[in-house]
Amino acid sequence: MAASKPYTVRFVENDQEVVITGSLRPESAEAMADVRGCLDGAAASVAGILFVNLKRLRYLNFVGFQELGRFVRDAGERCPDLKIKLVISSVVPWAPQRFALLPELFENVIVEQYDRAFYPGQGVIENDALIPVLRTQTSIIWHHERDLLREHGLKEGMKVADICCGIGDFAVLMRKEFRPTRIVAVDHSRPFLQYATQVAKEFGIADIEYVFGDATNLFLEDDAFDFVTSRLSLQVFDQPEKILRELMRICRPGGRVYLTNEMMSHNYGYPRHESVSWTYQQINDMCAELGMDLSFGPKMYSLLTDLGFEDILVETVDITNRNTAVEDFARVIESWEGYVTGELSTATKQPSEMVERLRSGLRDHVYTITSRRGYATWPLYIASGRKPSSSAARRSRKAAS
Ligand SMILES: C[S@@+](CC[C@H](N)C(=O)[O-])C[C@H]1O[C@@H](n2cnc3c(N)ncnc32)[C@H](O)[C@@H]1O
Repeated sequence: MAASKPYTVRFVENDQEVVITGSLRPESAEAMADVRGCLDGAAASVAGILFVNLKRLRYLNFVGFQELGRFVRDAGERCPDLKIKLVISSVVPWAPQRFALLPELFENVIVEQYDRAFYPGQGVIENDALIPVLRTQTSIIWHHERDLLREHGLKEGMKVADICCGIGDFAVLMRKEFRPTRIVAVDHSRPFLQYATQVAKEFGIADIEYVFGDATNLFLEDDAFDFVTSRLSLQVFDQPEKILRELMRICRPGGRVYLTNEMMSHNYGYPRHESVSWTYQQINDMCAELGMDLSFGPKMYSLLTDLGFEDILVETVDITNRNTAVEDFARVIESWEGYVTGELSTATKQPSEMVERLRSGLRDHVYTITSRRGYATWPLYIASGRKPSSSAARRSRKAAS
């Protein structure tokens, strides 16, 4: 029996698009004759623009790249009016650099890297300045979340995926507590993944699969995981529904998707409440300017419902200075100060007096956390839903139509 190929290629006539996925590492051009045949056939059958979708291509060696280059060259000679648009991603090592050469050599080609600026807040999120923020946050949230995860259906020995895993610390904690049989952690920030793999090495952890990728176009198989998590991330991406659809796809029927998100505008501290509330409303609005919705928490229920999840559980966890170690909670807000007055203020072009007001509002929050008679909160929303069995999904689609 012939071994199955590590890549797929298909022509979607409706979209004038050839989609190539997987790993294209042929030893010779002949070994990818099916790809070339599909591309040639597609080019001969369309007018205007032929799209070549490489978004889910994971590896491409030089032989593969050269053959794509030859296709572009030959198509230009055979069909001079046809434009070829190659849509690449940064997942394939060196793809942006290599593919940038093609438009210089051939007039008929356009190259677009779809994940270069694919969500508006990317620059301030996928940035190593966020590392200390993520680290301190996880340390206080885990304390509350460990038991909640069980209530939301996570058990020992499951297959687990953490999508938008950040610096990977949550995956490490889940691994330790729940001993999954498989655990995959995906993120789109190279600095975070570098940090995650370094920590895993230092902690002697070899079984967490850290993967670079886009949560809206995952390389993971359908129905592969029992429990899929995505924490504090739907709120930073401007199209949360797209991520949630992918989380649902990779979850097995009957498995659960688990989400957490914030309600930043409701962060609170008393006394000094006016300054504290004003500050968080500003931060919320600054993030909104960058396409983020830091008050996404309470909206999760609707989205899970719209996508057809069953048995949806939602709750709030109020992190307060009365249920969390005061110095740890204060450390989280202190880590926000650097980030808000630095990266975030720069990205949203805040004047210096505004930056100072934000700084003092965050310090007021720290004051309410640490003062003997102060009361401070950081509300988090937690939601999970069960993916319906395929027959239930079919029934509900039928009922809806
Ligand atoms: C606020 S951080 C939260 C990280 C982690 N889940 C945690 O709780 O610490 C948001 C994360 O989402 C990631 N992210 C945002 N959009 C993404 C996408 N489309 N694909 C993969 N990762 C994405 C960012 O790189 C970042 O690590």
